[in-house]
Parts: sequence; structure tokens; C-alpha cells
Amino acid sequence: MRLNKYLATAGVASRRSCDEVIKEGRVTVNGNTVSDLSTFVDVELDKVEVDGRPVHVKTKDVYILLHKPLNYVTTVKDEKGRDSVIDLVRISDRVFPVGRLDYDTTGLLLMTNDGELTFRLSHPKFGVEKTYVAVLNKKITEQELIHLRKGVVLIDGKTAPCKAIKLSKEVVQITIHEGKNKQVKRMFRKLGFKVRELHRTQYGPLHLAKLKYGQWRNLRPPEVQALKKAVGLD
Ligand code: URA
Repeated sequence: MRLNKYLATAGVASRRSCDEVIKEGRVTVNGNTVSDLSTFVDVELDKVEVDGRPVHVKTKDVYILLHKPLNYVTTVKDEKGRDSVIDLVRISDRVFPVGRLDYDTTGLLLMTNDGELTFRLSHPKFGVEKTYVAVLNKKITEQELIHLRKGVVLIDGKTAPCKAIKLSKEVVQITIHEGKNKQVKRMFRKLGFKVRELHRTQYGPLHLAKLKYGQWRNLRPPEVQALKKAVGLD
């Protein structure tokens, strides 16, 4: 398999970004630095490392849907030593979260070892929709909802138009298709609200449905297909 494809399927980065990683001389095959983009590796036999860290051979694509509980980070390591969602999914294949959910956000988290899919799902170009239910600290008015829908000016730019439905006086279901850091909380904060609870119910075609906190399951083949289709990988 071509080295850049090997690295991309192992989840290092997109294939194009992997070319840069190779050119920068950060990749070794069996201990030897390679910078030739046409290098091929044997998936079974060759030992590939990036920045001195082994890149594990992936034998199959794994797609997991986790119901993230409160008080878990979605990063692999946490400098404060907090629990990571990685430890909730105990399987032999290494899977990583697609995007982030805050420590105190609950709900649908997709985890996979499919680097290309991760890259595309995280890319604003594909605009995958994410739906959250936000419990606020006070009642929200129709005017404020309209403001939210039209877009809110944040420090890193105005948010794109989104869907916002009032579920009750202080509870809003919001659907965004961008991935700015802590976007939902910042949108509400800009309008003078504090988000008391944030829960993701939907990610593109995926629904959380009946999974309980901390539970996970493999995606069904039609779900994988729908996800790939959403980012032009079908
Ligand atoms: N927006 C937020 O503010 N936090 C999350 O965890 C996800 C989206």
C-alpha cells in the first residue's frame, strides 16, 4: 500500500496532509526515514512510525457510536488527568473521536479509525449537521430565537444561519452545520444566556436513539453508507 494511503487510513491525517508529513521527514519505515512520496509499504510486515511513534496497521474500518456521559474528555490525553471517552470503548482497534464534545456535554459521539471520513466530517465544506438540546438559565424569547437562527457574531466570525426550535421556555433544540470551538455555548452566551446542560442528539444521519449514557455500539452498514454519502465518499 502507498505510504500516504497507509498513514491516512491509520488516522494520521488526510492523504494530502500525509504527503506533507512524509516530505518533512517525520516518517520512518523499519527505522529508516523516508521522504519519497512514491514509497510503498507492506501492511503486514513493515513497521511505520511518525515522529518516533508507531502507526498501527488497520485491518478493518471501525465505526462506533458512543453516548458520551458527563465529565469525560474527548481528547486522547488530558493534562488534568480526567477520564477520556477512549477508555469507555474497549476494543482491540484504536478508534478516535470525530470532533470534540466538551467535558460537560453529553450525547452522540462518533468514533472511528477511518481517517479520510474523519477529515471530511470535520471539514466545513461538507457542512454536516449536528443537533443539540440546550437547557438555558432563563426563558428565551421569539426575538432571541430569530437572532440565533440568523447568525450570531462571535470573536471568530458570524455563525451561519441555523435551525433553532423552542422545546420549552428554557430549552432549545439547535442544529448547526459548522464546527467552531464551543460554538453552541458561545452563541447562547452572546445573547446573554448560560447553557446549563448541552446534549447532542444527532450527527448527520446518525441518531442517538436508545443508547444509554456510557453505552456504545457499532454503526450498522446502512448508517456507515449514509455517513459516507453525506461527505461525498460513496
Ligand atoms: N458546542 C459547544 O459549545 N460545546 C460542545 O460540546 C459542542 C458544541
